[in-house]
Amino acid sequence: MEHINISGGYPLSGEIDIHGAKNAVLPVLAATILCGDECVIHNCPQLSDVETTIEILCELGCRVKRENNHIIVNSGNLSGNFIPHSLMTKMRSSIIFLGAILARHKTAVVCFPGGCELGPRPIDLHIKAFRKLGVKIHEAHGFLHCDAKDFSPAGIHLDFPSVGATENIMLLSCISKGETTIINAAREPEIQDLQDFLNAMGAKVSGAGSSIIRIQGVDKLHSTEHSIIPDRIVASTYLSACMCAGGKILINKVNPQHLQAYLSILEESGAKLDIYNSSIEITAPDKIKNINMIRTSPYPGFPTDSQSIAMSMLSVAEGTSLIKETIFEGRFRHASELMKMGADIKIEGDLAIIQGVNRLKGTDVYAKDLRSGAGLVVAALGADGDTNIFNTHYIDRGYDRLCDQLIILGAKAERKN
Ligand code: UD1
Repeated sequence: MEHINISGGYPLSGEIDIHGAKNAVLPVLAATILCGDECVIHNCPQLSDVETTIEILCELGCRVKRENNHIIVNSGNLSGNFIPHSLMTKMRSSIIFLGAILARHKTAVVCFPGGCELGPRPIDLHIKAFRKLGVKIHEAHGFLHCDAKDFSPAGIHLDFPSVGATENIMLLSCISKGETTIINAAREPEIQDLQDFLNAMGAKVSGAGSSIIRIQGVDKLHSTEHSIIPDRIVASTYLSACMCAGGKILINKVNPQHLQAYLSILEESGAKLDIYNSSIEITAPDKIKNINMIRTSPYPGFPTDSQSIAMSMLSVAEGTSLIKETIFEGRFRHASELMKMGADIKIEGDLAIIQGVNRLKGTDVYAKDLRSGAGLVVAALGADGDTNIFNTHYIDRGYDRLCDQLIILGAKAERKN
């Protein structure tokens, strides 16, 4: 079975570039269908989730061409308003297409989205907001039939700053008459990237990055080019890889502003950081220090997507660390795999108690979702002996050529069948 084999214990050195953000490129690609013309998106990583998004665009009648990291989408002949079950269930972010299709076609038919299993991942906030905006939605045989012919702008208060719901409302509302306001909007950098792209197409969106976003409807959008922001979660993964393996690396093409919560944890755990405009150099300490408490929370808090990576690092810290996961239920599934490697972790509900051990030991482990897979790779780099990480398809959803990048940094990593 395909797996990544890592021989641990080789300190990292050298430098790599960080690729474009998965969580930014997916909504931006969905948004291309709003313009009805050609858009060119730069800095698109090669990920299976991006391939799925391209398949959805093609299914809807778009012409899509990929040239290395540039994706050209022409949505002039958009014909479909239906996303098949097989594509919809491949990834949760497929739900973002709902707002975009409704904005173009006024009707859409989709089923409930899929994605990594992170406990219940409802879309009630999306549906509630759409209904408030006049969209008629009824569910039949597992499909949502949506009709936005009576769309009317409104003020939407989100009960929770959901990233996906914020993006969906932005996509639905930017071609309209009047102003839609999102209160308690998600503040993630990927929302700002979507705003920048929409505005480059002629939309009038403001406030992204704060908790109030205003979307002043316009009649139509036009073609444009846009470059995707760097992936902050991937950046945090390589920084933690260096913490576990030891050594000193430089990561380039990164936005340190987007990583502040993670960088402060790295500093607290003993890393020496040199931060430049778009690069970060990290020197690992001889021994990682424990962190009293990490609490995941919406941006600018500590990202849930980096939680598994932090847990791997703290498994070999001096003393006891606590991690409280407040965003997703069921997001500690990497803990049992880390324990197979000798980690001392207790899970009590949404709290992980990590008693640092001196070294982890390589063995066979299984990624249970995208980020748990990344966490296991990070742990393996610092472990004694060989670790085989199975279920690599999860890792391929969010990391572009992970092994190649690790090899550049001096790690012993190989994909095997
Ligand atoms: C996005 C990211 C994902 C990240 C997450 C939180 C993408 C493609 N994915 O996912 O990597 O982990 O933000 O930072 O950008 N919720 C509801 N009802 C809803 C919507 C969400 O209860 O209608 C809950 C979810 O179950 C979860 C929490 O809100 O507990 C956060 O979800 P949300 O912010 O919507 O995350 P996603 O957009 O799915």
